[in-house]
Amino acid sequence: MNMVISGTGSAVPKLLVTNDDLGRLMDTSDAWIQSRTGIRNRRLAVEETTTGLAVGASLEALADAGIAAEDLDLILAATVTPDQFLPNLACEVQGALGASGAVAFDVNAACSGFLFALDTAALYLKNLCERTPDGADRTALVIGAETLSKIMDWNDRSTCVLFGDGAGAAVLRAQPSGSEKRGIRGMVQRTDGARGGVLSCRNRPVNHPYAKRQEPPAYVSMDGQEVYRFAVRTVPETIREAVDQAGFSMADIDLFLLHQANLRILESVAKRLKQPMEKFPVNLDEYGNTSAASVPILLDDVRKQGKIKEGSRIVLAGFGAGLTCGATVLVW
Ligand code: ACO
Repeated sequence: MNMVISGTGSAVPKLLVTNDDLGRLMDTSDAWIQSRTGIRNRRLAVEETTTGLAVGASLEALADAGIAAEDLDLILAATVTPDQFLPNLACEVQGALGASGAVAFDVNAACSGFLFALDTAALYLKNLCERTPDGADRTALVIGAETLSKIMDWNDRSTCVLFGDGAGAAVLRAQPSGSEKRGIRGMVQRTDGARGGVLSCRNRPVNHPYAKRQEPPAYVSMDGQEVYRFAVRTVPETIREAVDQAGFSMADIDLFLLHQANLRILESVAKRLKQPMEKFPVNLDEYGNTSAASVPILLDDVRKQGKIKEGSRIVLAGFGAGLTCGATVLVW
């Protein structure tokens, strides 16, 4: 069974905020942000919601794949910033699309969320195909969607300048294996919960009559240098393992589509893998770090630029809070 991405889509908010715009709000500058991160602009939700962005990206992905929402078997949404606790984002999307035959639930693995959801969807579809009489022709919609701006402390210049809002989606289809081995060929996930404090955001505390605690609202807090060290060590290791699993050498890979957190991290990973930066497309300059949305937005951007052809060998990789890291290798 081949697990093939057959459509992609993305949606970002209208409001574009430049580094100079932020420099008028707080003690920061375009020079500082660009030199440390490579980020120039980000999109911030004003009227938009996580659900609305997710639905927009999903409609594009379904149209691109030529799939009707009613034919979906599964919807997985990766997010850390759903609009509400209940119901989950995937159920909201399922309702909005009218995908009545799809099971829908969320995955929270922060900036690795889309990768964890994609791999989970592939394993779920494989299982579904194996235990149902009609076999193949099963389809999942995998979404990464965030409005991170709502969990940022806009008085903390060391975090709020890094992030942006947006959504990306991909349609994953289970297709009978032919002579060609297309689709997902390798997948590796890693988790290091013992170091979760490095990048975190507390939920609201218990708040019943027996536990009257007063706590200020919580926002994202990050030890940037520790995250940097984790990323530049773990991402290349995880990619190597996934590429080995796929039976490829690093030189066989045409494109490395990595979570867009920081240009220096991308450059360091490229150097450690001994691969040229031309194989590492970048759009963090335009969108900032959109957490679970960054990999599917980049995938969609790169496809729209015509950089992916049938047979292209692609690595998708994410890393983030948890700490988590994931890499998937696929043949387009
Ligand atoms: N503008 C101007 N100055 C700033 C800003 C800002 N926006 N933010 C921090 N500074 C100042 C600090 O106050 C500090 O000043 P001081 O020396 O007077 O104390 C100085 O700049 C250096 O601060 P550091 O935090 O040490 O800056 P660093 O060089 O480590 O860069 C950064 C910070 C960009 C976050 C870096 O650590 C990094 O790249 N980390 C990787 C993690 C990452 O990219 N995370 C993004 C999200 S996580 C994820 O997606 C998985």
